[in-house]
Amino acid sequence: MLSRIGISLDDTLLEQFDELIEERGYNNRSEAVRDLIREELVKKEWEEDADEGPKVAVAMLVFDHDARELGQKLTRTQHADHNLIVSSMHVHMDPHNCLEVIVLKGPGRDIIRVGNSLISNRGVKLGRLLLATRGDKL
Ligand code: NI
Repeated sequence: MLSRIGISLDDTLLEQFDELIEERGYNNRSEAVRDLIREELVKKEWEEDADEGPKVAVAMLVFDHDARELGQKLTRTQHADHNLIVSSMHVHMDPHNCLEVIVLKGPGRDIIRVGNSLISNRGVKLGRLLLATRGDKL
């Protein structure tokens, strides 16, 4: 079943939202709002089950290959928590930029700690931690 809801927003916020979802390629506001809600629900699921069963997440990083010692630091972090790292892929985007995709699996709290420590490094231009879910509750 599908329910329709109305949302009140001030004009500025709505304009910003419309710009954002256009940039992200959404066809309509409903799909964008649904994704935001799903994302928050997954976060909640993670927070509540922090110590139960393994969780899976993907960390994505874009960084400057020339940034001093950053590559080494990222590798060191992954070795230190090697039991949480399932796999990683390094793509040389161009002569200067690298993309690294790291799949993590383990207790939610540990994954969030390691994932955040990877993406928050100085010199990381774009860092995202995507929390996966089996989708049972969505
Ligand atoms: Ni590279």
